[in-house]
Amino acid sequence: MTEIVVCCGVGGTGKTTTSAALGVASALSGRRTAVLTIDPARRLADALGLDALGNEPRPVALPGNAAPLHALMLDRKGTWDAVIRKFSASEEEAERLLANRYYRAVSTRLTGSHEYMAIEKLYELVESDEWDRVIVDTPPARHVLDFFQAPDRVGRLLDQSVLGVFTQPGRGLFGGATRRAVELVERVAGEAVMGEIADFFRLFSGLSPGFRARAAATAKLLRSQQTLYYLVVNASSPGRNDVLGFLQTLKQEQMQFAGFLINRVAARTDASPVMLPEEVDGMPLEQWTAWRRALSELPGHRQARRAQHINQARELVSAAGGSPAWLIPEVEDGPRDVEGLARLARHLPPCPPTTL
Ligand SMILES: Nc1ncnc2c1ncn2[C@@H]1O[C@H](COP(=O)(O)OP(=O)(O)OP(=O)(O)O)[C@@H](O)[C@H]1O
Ligand SMILES: [Mg+2]
Repeated sequence: MTEIVVCCGVGGTGKTTTSAALGVASALSGRRTAVLTIDPARRLADALGLDALGNEPRPVALPGNAAPLHALMLDRKGTWDAVIRKFSASEEEAERLLANRYYRAVSTRLTGSHEYMAIEKLYELVESDEWDRVIVDTPPARHVLDFFQAPDRVGRLLDQSVLGVFTQPGRGLFGGATRRAVELVERVAGEAVMGEIADFFRLFSGLSPGFRARAAATAKLLRSQQTLYYLVVNASSPGRNDVLGFLQTLKQEQMQFAGFLINRVAARTDASPVMLPEEVDGMPLEQWTAWRRALSELPGHRQARRAQHINQARELVSAAGGSPAWLIPEVEDGPRDVEGLARLARHLPPCPPTTL
């Protein structure tokens, strides 16, 4: 059975970076692993061999005798198109829907569509039975919960008024409620013409039974024992309220919280005093004296920062009732290659959590 690991967290905390490093850690521990990333920074994409947009798994070259590691980058449009092809009644209907301008607008702008497509791709990877573990990076979300509520939202969308109004028999296309729906749709679609919109809803409603079943299956998978959630938090600003809200919802939804990945913890430093000359040739004494003081205070500042990060992590873990936490060091400029990811991997599961 494929184990699923989901990295959640608010924007910019390091979800993409830690997902990639968790992928390396997992493959090095002998598990066939796929990492589904979303918008990795250029350098990271290069490190993972994702130089071109990759909606299909691509091998990542790892040192030694690690299990296979593949990475893929979510191509939202490509995944939507594959879903349409899969759930359309015929190839011809699929092609018509794919060419529909309203479909093209909706498939990239619909609220939650990025999240939903990530989950759709995840489902595909799990179904393939080729992976021992799939690691899922999540898109930057306003709220950490947006991601895994997406299948429920897509399910609801299919039942919602706009679609219902268009597809319910006996209602004219220009009734009052319909007109409001059309106005709403036009606002989203811009220049889309009415006939095309109607056509979209007719074709789309044709695929909804399969689509709805799929949304229900993914929602179930995300709540199963197979799926573990990690929360990536920034060591200097952990965002306690967000974190506690996240944990409460996980509990309500009976989703399994696996622990905190506390990212960008200031590195340990050698605090012994730095011996610097009292004067430097070619530099005014006053300027050098100021530099010298700043330089000599640097290790102390770093140490104080590290102590603050660890204290904040400890508080968070205790507020969360003693959940496990892994501390990930800050590396200059972020990891830029597989070796850099492998260095971060040493601080991540399956290594034991940090005792705080
Ligand atoms: N341990 C680390 N040390 C140094 N830099 C890091 C570390 N982890 C992440 N970064 C840097 O922080 C930035 C944000 O990281 P990343 O893209 O992984 O965050 P994210 O949570 O995926 O962001 P988004 O929410 O926008 O998707 C990147 O520039 C990355 O290189
Ligand atoms: Mg990201």
